[in-house]
Amino acid sequence: MDRHRSRRNKLHRAVKKAGAEALLVTNFTNVTYLTGFTGDDSYLLLHADGEVVLSDSRYTTQLGEECPGVDMHIRSQGTTMLEAIAKVVKSAKIGRLGLEAESITLALRDKLAEKLSKVELAPTCGLVEQLREVKDRDEIARLRKAVWQAEKAFGVLRATLRPEKTEKQVADELEHQMRLFGSRNRSFQSIVAAGSRAALPHAVPSDRRVGESDFILVDWGADEGLYRSDLTRVLVTGKISAKFERIYKLVLAAQAQAIAAIRPGAVCQDINRTARRVIAKAGFGRYFGHGLGHGLGLDIHEAPRLAAKIETALKPGMVVTVEPGVYLRGWGGVRIEDDVLVTRDGHEVLTHVPKKLEELIIR
Ligand code: GLY
Ligand code: MN
Ligand code: MN
Repeated sequence: MDRHRSRRNKLHRAVKKAGAEALLVTNFTNVTYLTGFTGDDSYLLLHADGEVVLSDSRYTTQLGEECPGVDMHIRSQGTTMLEAIAKVVKSAKIGRLGLEAESITLALRDKLAEKLSKVELAPTCGLVEQLREVKDRDEIARLRKAVWQAEKAFGVLRATLRPEKTEKQVADELEHQMRLFGSRNRSFQSIVAAGSRAALPHAVPSDRRVGESDFILVDWGADEGLYRSDLTRVLVTGKISAKFERIYKLVLAAQAQAIAAIRPGAVCQDINRTARRVIAKAGFGRYFGHGLGHGLGLDIHEAPRLAAKIETALKPGMVVTVEPGVYLRGWGGVRIEDDVLVTRDGHEVLTHVPKKLEELIIR
C-alpha cells in the first residue's frame, strides 16, 4: 500500500478514537504528509467513506500528478473555500466534524458554525502531528539527504571563509552552496553570528565582518524538497580565550550526555533535564534559556520537543535535534546542534560535522 494511503488509514482510526466522524485538515503541511500534494491553499476532508482534497483550478494538474488516488473537489471560480467545505460536508452527511484547532482560523471556524448550523464542530489537537513524530524509511532517507546537503555546503563555507566577509555574505553563500548540492531551499533563515552577536540565539545575519571577532556561530539547514536538516557549529576565527574554551567544552559535554540518554522509552523532559543539569552545575543554568531540542521533518520545528513538561517517550523512528547553548550578552554564545535518530536499541547521530574544539579552528 502506498505510504500516504497508509497514513490516512491510521488517521481514520485516530479520528474515530477522538470521537469525530470526520476531520478537516487545514494545516497545509499535514495535507502534504497525508497526500503527497505539495501546493498550498488546499484542505483535506477525511470522512467515514473516503477523503477529498478541496482545492482550486491552479492545482488540478499538480494534484493529479502528486496524489493520483485521492478524490479532489476543485471549487469553481467565484466559489469560496467555505462554500466548498459546506458542500462536501453536507453531501458526506457528516454530523460531527473534527477541526484542527491548532491551525484553523477563528474566522473560518465561526463561518463554518454559521453555515453548518446542524453540524457539531469538534476541536482536535495533534492527531496528524502525532503520526508525523515517527518517521518511516523514506522520510529518514530524505532527512539524511538534507543533512548531507547542509554538511557539504558547510565544508565549502569552511574552505572559503575570509575575515572581510560579512555575516550576511557568509549566510547567502552557504544557502547558495546548499542549493548547488541539490537542496530546494534553506530549511529556515540561516544564522551567522560573529562574536557578541552569537549571544542572540536567533540572530539575523548582519553586515558585521566575521574577522572582527574570534568566533562565529552558524546555525543552518537544507530543505531537500520536503524534509529539513538543522545544525549548529561554532567556528574559531581568532584567539581561543579561557572563557570560550570553558563554555564550549561545557556545552559539548551537556550535549554528549543528552545524546547518550536518547533511546526508545526515554522521556523528552528527562533528556532536556540531563543537559540542563550539566550546564546548571557549572553555574550557567540561567544562560541556557531555550529547550534542548525539537523533532524535525517536514517542518523545522515539530513534535516531539525535548523540553520541560514534555512527557512523550521516545520511539524508534523519531528524529530530534539536540542543541544546548549558553548565551552571555555582550560576550557571545555557544550552541552545538546535531540531528539524532532514535533507533531500536539506542540512537544514531545523523550529522557528522566535526565538533571537537581543535577541529573548529580555521584561522
Ligand atoms: N534554527 C533554529 C533552531 O535551531 O531551532
Ligand atoms: Mn538550528
Ligand atoms: Mn534546531
